[in-house]
Amino acid sequence: MKEGRCVGKSGEEKGYTVDQHTLCIGGVKFPLWAGAAPLAGFSHRAYRDWMRRWGAGFVISEMISLEGLSRDQKKTWALLDVEEEPFPWVQLFGREDYSKWYAVVRKILTRTSVRFIDVNFGCPVKKVVRTGAGSALLRFPQAMADIIRAIKDAGAIATAKVRLGIDTPLWQEFIPALATAGVDAITVHGRYAVQFYSGVADWEAIKAIREIYGGVLIGNGDITTPEKALERKMTTGVDGVMIGRHALGAPYIFRQIQQYLLTGSYEVPSPEEIKEMILDYASLYLAVTQTTSLVPIRATLLAMVHGFSHAKYIRQALSLVSTYEELVRILGQKEPSQEQ
Ligand SMILES: Cc1cc2nc3c(=O)[nH]c(=O)nc-3n(C[C@H](O)[C@H](O)[C@H](O)COP(=O)(O)O)c2cc1C
Repeated sequence: MKEGRCVGKSGEEKGYTVDQHTLCIGGVKFPLWAGAAPLAGFSHRAYRDWMRRWGAGFVISEMISLEGLSRDQKKTWALLDVEEEPFPWVQLFGREDYSKWYAVVRKILTRTSVRFIDVNFGCPVKKVVRTGAGSALLRFPQAMADIIRAIKDAGAIATAKVRLGIDTPLWQEFIPALATAGVDAITVHGRYAVQFYSGVADWEAIKAIREIYGGVLIGNGDITTPEKALERKMTTGVDGVMIGRHALGAPYIFRQIQQYLLTGSYEVPSPEEIKEMILDYASLYLAVTQTTSLVPIRATLLAMVHGFSHAKYIRQALSLVSTYEELVRILGQKEPSQEQ
């Protein structure tokens, strides 16, 4: 990584602000304090490149199984395809076990250019929780701390992504434990595991976490506009924000945030520009994966369809799209009422 170094918010430098737009984690300077959240099934290499192209300051991979890496499963290792990424940051999930985390992270650092390891302490899905991973770990601050220590001891920059608790607040216990273990940054999704994605993210709780944690804090949940991103940052004191679902359909949110910070306003893409954007993502995906099928990214393409008068019609057609040629044809179609 050739990117700029910076002075972070740790030890004596606590409270030091790098500048208005950037974010400093583990001594590495990210170009913008807003970045793209990990989304299982979406945040593969092409998506990460795509988000960066739209100005995301950072992008984290979808969650990758520690167990799969530990067993040397080829398919799992293939997910660590971060070569040439400017800020190689991947997320792992797994249960507690210092020595396994240490050994896997050592291997990752030797075999790949990954430097940032994020730990998933938030996944509420049964398949993951049943194994003792994801949000199941929130009840065990010592185990969470051991994992962070293992990653740090292995030589990586260690970050954590948490929820507020399972069904009641647990952060009062686990945030200090993560801080003591030397975590380099914490992202808080302001919901409980039992909520999955329902209700609204509790940014008051994120603000309360800010009051007890002086390290790098990233807030997450329900950000849909540049105004909201800046307002959340200013009112809660977080160092950065992470955007998940909204960025899927509106990757330009990051460029809008940059524009908003610089000028106080931002551009909204026209339907024609959105069509171009959909085609661009499809070609980037096909080029990165060296494949010809758009089926794996149908959901992302669909999420980008908005602002057209005949969006419903286009969505129906896109839900069956397979090839780039079909995509071009569908996007070129006029509203049914305009067709002869
Ligand atoms: C389809 C989907 C997949 C997700 N996958 C992950 C994941 O792999 N790791 C993770 O930490 N969070 C994951 N999340 C949670 C998001 O990163 C984020 O915390 C959540 O969506 C709230 O942010 P948002 O309101 O900006 O979407 C996922 C969310 C969704 C909707």
